[in-house]
Amino acid sequence: MDLPKLKIGHMVPSVPIMQGGMGVGISLSGLASAVANAGGIGIISGTGITVDEMRRHIRKARKLTQGKGYIGVNVLFAMNDFAEKMKAALDEKVDFIISGAGISRDMYSWGKQAGIPVISIVSSAKLAKISERLGAAAVVVEGFEAGGHLGTDKPLFDILPEIVESVSIPVIAAGGIMTGADIAKALSLGASGVQMAPGLLPAMNAMLRKASRRNTCPPLKKTHYW
Ligand SMILES: Cc1cc2nc3c(=O)[nH]c(=O)nc-3n(C[C@H](O)[C@H](O)[C@H](O)COP(=O)(O)O)c2cc1C
Repeated sequence: MDLPKLKIGHMVPSVPIMQGGMGVGISLSGLASAVANAGGIGIISGTGITVDEMRRHIRKARKLTQGKGYIGVNVLFAMNDFAEKMKAALDEKVDFIISGAGISRDMYSWGKQAGIPVISIVSSAKLAKISERLGAAAVVVEGFEAGGHLGTDKPLFDILPEIVESVSIPVIAAGGIMTGADIAKALSLGASGVQMAPGLLPAMNAMLRKASRRNTCPPLKKTHYW
């Protein structure tokens, strides 16, 4: 199967796969740079780390990718230090910012001023349209498979076609994408790419163990992800 080209702002990764941001010390520079070096889009999650740690990981990822590949930062709107983290990431000139758990009008204008694409995580056509109108460069669509916090009880493949229809920016499908068949299905329903988190399990295992040893993630047996 020929994979379509995913284009978001200046980013044209060689495979249309974005790594899902995983907080509590899982998706840091190691995982993000591995994904970017493999031709996908890597994400450092700003959740559960300080602003300084986030800056350090952005710089380290840049080193590990030798300035090539694409590295972005996931900053959740619901975090207390959302604005501080977003401004720090823009200051570090990341390739993009991805945000979910709410929407702020400001984040799109800050991204625009810095010339850095801002991507929104959405679960409905309504929110996708609002995001596009406010200036999102793309949307990541997450169905209920992505967790219970998203305000939808519908599966990804039920909401994806309607969201693809409703906007003209790239739509990335996320939540439960684990296999090549899942990727093919998402693309056939009009997605421009996919976002995967545990689907990148082999690489994540090593990161999780490190994070667990540093006590920056919950004990592994208590997570509901595996
Ligand atoms: C351990 C873990 C931590 C996560 N942390 C975040 C986060 O900080 N921000 C976020 O937007 N999504 C977070 N997610 C959601 C993932 O990025 C992804 O969108 C979600 O897991 C759905 O994709 P999947 O089915 O491939 O896991 C996390 C997921 C996992 C498994």
